[in-house]
Amino acid sequence: MPLNILMVASEAVPLAKSGGLGDMVSAYSAALRDSGVETSILMPAYPAALEQIGGGTPVARLSGLPGGDGVLIRAHMPDTGVPVLLLRMDHLFARDGLYRDENGRDYIDNLVRFASLAAAAARIAQGVRGIKRPDVVHAHDWHAGLTPLFMKLAGVKARSVFTIHNLAFQGNYPRAMGGWIGVPPELLVPAPLDDRSIEFYDTLSLMKAGIVHADRVTTVSERYAREILTERFGHRMEGVLHSVASRLSGITNGINTAAWNPATDPLIARSYSVENVAGKHACKRELQRAFGLAREPFAPLVAIGSRLTEQKMADVVADAIPHLLSRDSRVQFAILGQGEAHLEQQMRALAAQWPGRVGVKIGYDETAAHGLHAGADMLLHASRFEPCGLTQLYAMRYGTVPVASRVGGLADTISDYSLDLGRSGAATGFLFERETVDGVIGAMERSLAAFGNPSLWHALQRNAMQRDSSWAVPVARYTKLYTSLTDARPATTRRRKVDAPDTPTFVDERAAMAAG
Ligand code: ADP
Ligand code: GLC
Repeated sequence: MPLNILMVASEAVPLAKSGGLGDMVSAYSAALRDSGVETSILMPAYPAALEQIGGGTPVARLSGLPGGDGVLIRAHMPDTGVPVLLLRMDHLFARDGLYRDENGRDYIDNLVRFASLAAAAARIAQGVRGIKRPDVVHAHDWHAGLTPLFMKLAGVKARSVFTIHNLAFQGNYPRAMGGWIGVPPELLVPAPLDDRSIEFYDTLSLMKAGIVHADRVTTVSERYAREILTERFGHRMEGVLHSVASRLSGITNGINTAAWNPATDPLIARSYSVENVAGKHACKRELQRAFGLAREPFAPLVAIGSRLTEQKMADVVADAIPHLLSRDSRVQFAILGQGEAHLEQQMRALAAQWPGRVGVKIGYDETAAHGLHAGADMLLHASRFEPCGLTQLYAMRYGTVPVASRVGGLADTISDYSLDLGRSGAATGFLFERETVDGVIGAMERSLAAFGNPSLWHALQRNAMQRDSSWAVPVARYTKLYTSLTDARPATTRRRKVDAPDTPTFVDERAAMAAG
């Protein structure tokens, strides 16, 4: 029997996306399927998703989910053809936002919405006529966190994997609500860590449910898997994570290298490649035009493209920018982002104060994101924590050199250049340690100095563009993880297979303490 995996997630591009989670679920599923593993995705039938799949076919009715009855609709991803099952429960999912209303408030029934998603996954694992039973159910982030528990309660044979994409969002709800969604009372009370209670600081936690009930737990980079065992990065979940350390490992994400390829990208001004980067100049001109920046071909142009939030240190970055503008009379900033209102306002104020040198677009704009990575010289990507980070991977592929915090996936995917080396070696960017304005300025100054040395800069650019951010290695690692849980094996592959390095490497707790 060919290995069959069901992904369970609340987002998958292009049907739904609020951040990197949606990118990862879709790109990974497509790559896994290409490697010979039968893969499908279960996600909510949001209106935009239904519209994009052009109808789909209802295949089953599921009654008695925590939020009532639902219908499973079968369709395919419009771009990759990966099979997708949409859980249609209009009273829960037919809304404009994924998680929040137009005033930015979380929907009050999010617990019931996502408990229904997890319960639907458990039903599929149990067996639903017309749908192939998966060998492994792979649940992503807190929205799908109840899946492994519901699978256990249903007594299914399929095994479960739970991937933590961002520990900062845990899906914690009043404990008293547990009864409504079918969690047995004994799992809602404080208990020793090795018990499987999902009580967490007097709440019930969907993230904790995923962590303690899944057969394997992964995070989206190796370093983040160690970091989250520490108080600094654990978001109070570090104790729980310690208790499952022997089942916890990190697998660094890849990216969709077809969609993010400067040689073929239809969304950028001119194509280019590592062999011939000339087209990047045209992209830079276009970026300067689009963001209202002075048309200076040799000015260092810094991109910022991320959610404007505390996680992304947007507060610190906004404070650092005026210093950088005064210290270097040519440097320019193109800022694309959306997030907390006061941070958006701060960015707009910078553009007003520094016309021609700071350009800001507030909003979510996928096309602009491609133009940003193609046209910039460097990407400033500060984060207080970063489980993996895809933005820096996109930037590198476009020869835009990242300047980033030394945390999580940023530290795992960017190799720091040290000025005293005087040569690029294998370096692909610049890393800084602290969460301070001085930290940002220090690294930016190192990068600006390197930018002043064209042969060095081109070497860094080349290294960055040549970094392998494909899914080949991560797919091999996940496959090894799945096949350690089940006897099913991938079918003969359609593409070249890659040997996984010796994984899974489960987290070494002592190394983790050192990382903190
Ligand atoms: P996170 O999921 O924590 O926000 P990632 O780096 O993993 O971080 O993923 C962010 C994703 O969202 C990337 O695909 C990035 O290009 C995209 N993105 C973030 N902000 C914007 C924006 N304002 N416009 C377009 N794309 C954006
Ligand atoms: C989350 C994380 C981000 C990661 C993404 C995809 O959004 O914040 O670091 O890249 O998930 O795994």
